[in-house]
Amino acid sequence: MRRLKVWDIPVRLFHWGLVGGVGLSFYTMKTDGAPFIFPVDIHARTGYVLLGLLLFRWLWGLVGSQHARFRSFLYSPVSMTNYARRMLRGRPPAFAGHNPLGGIMVVVMLLSLTFQAISGLFLTDDIFFNAPLHGLVDRSTASTLAGLHHLNANFLVLLIAGHLLALVVHRLKGERLVGAMFTGRKTLSGEPEDIPATGNSPRHIATPWLALLVIIMAALPVLWLWNA
Ligand code: HEM
Ligand code: HEM
Repeated sequence: MRRLKVWDIPVRLFHWGLVGGVGLSFYTMKTDGAPFIFPVDIHARTGYVLLGLLLFRWLWGLVGSQHARFRSFLYSPVSMTNYARRMLRGRPPAFAGHNPLGGIMVVVMLLSLTFQAISGLFLTDDIFFNAPLHGLVDRSTASTLAGLHHLNANFLVLLIAGHLLALVVHRLKGERLVGAMFTGRKTLSGEPEDIPATGNSPRHIATPWLALLVIIMAALPVLWLWNA
């Protein structure tokens, strides 16, 4: 048994912020939106914050701490197939960060969420709401983007359901992943395949200053959209 620090604070805040934001986005569009008087306005503002979170995550995937980096959890198709095979045979091998299948799933989720947030910027509800970039496109482009926003929302539901199902499967195989998204620390039953045996903590520990710089870079477009 080994207990390792895997998720830094920014990744954890990003994740739970994403869960709250996506929940609110769906709530404001798929229900009557009570108690909000203008649910579409709340929906759009939540979308701006989500866009900021996603922008942060894309940058953090390049310069963040070890397990936050894309290069640490993007594997070849051969590694993904091997992992899937070992998973189906019984106990999956231990990984400190995202495993090869989890890693690709994360990138697909990030792409789909980013597309959702960006496409939203061009929409209108044809009643009183025009998103900040709606004026930049003609009617037919806006309507195509609305169709894609709708389609991708359904795709997102599938991805999220798959994500939650995967967590249940891992739990049944003895891996508790959820606690680590709260505490940052994962308990591994075996030697992890993605870090050297001697490593006890993320090799690249990103400095708080770097985190602050990335947060400011991600916050600027949010502030602009919020006041647009
Ligand atoms: C990741 C962020 C977002 C998520 C998860 C999301 C999700 C959704 C969902 C589930 C719907 C209902 C689709 C349907 O059933 O047809 C919807 C519609 C809509 N969204 Fe978003 N959205 C996001 C970002 C945005 C942003 C940033 C804006 C605008 C600035 C926006 C504007 C709209 C509008 C105007 C509609 C209604 C379109 C219509 O009336 O047909 N969305 N969104
Ligand atoms: C709107 C719903 C959700 C979305 C969009 C979502 C999205 C994501 C994303 C993008 C990641 C990658 C994190 C990163 O590297 O930055 C992730 C990881 C993770 N999520 Fe979620 N998530 C959702 C709901 C949940 C819920 C409800 C739970 C817990 C019950 C959860 C538990 C986890 C865990 C444990 C990981 C890390 C998996 C691993 O160890 O590889 N997620 N999620």
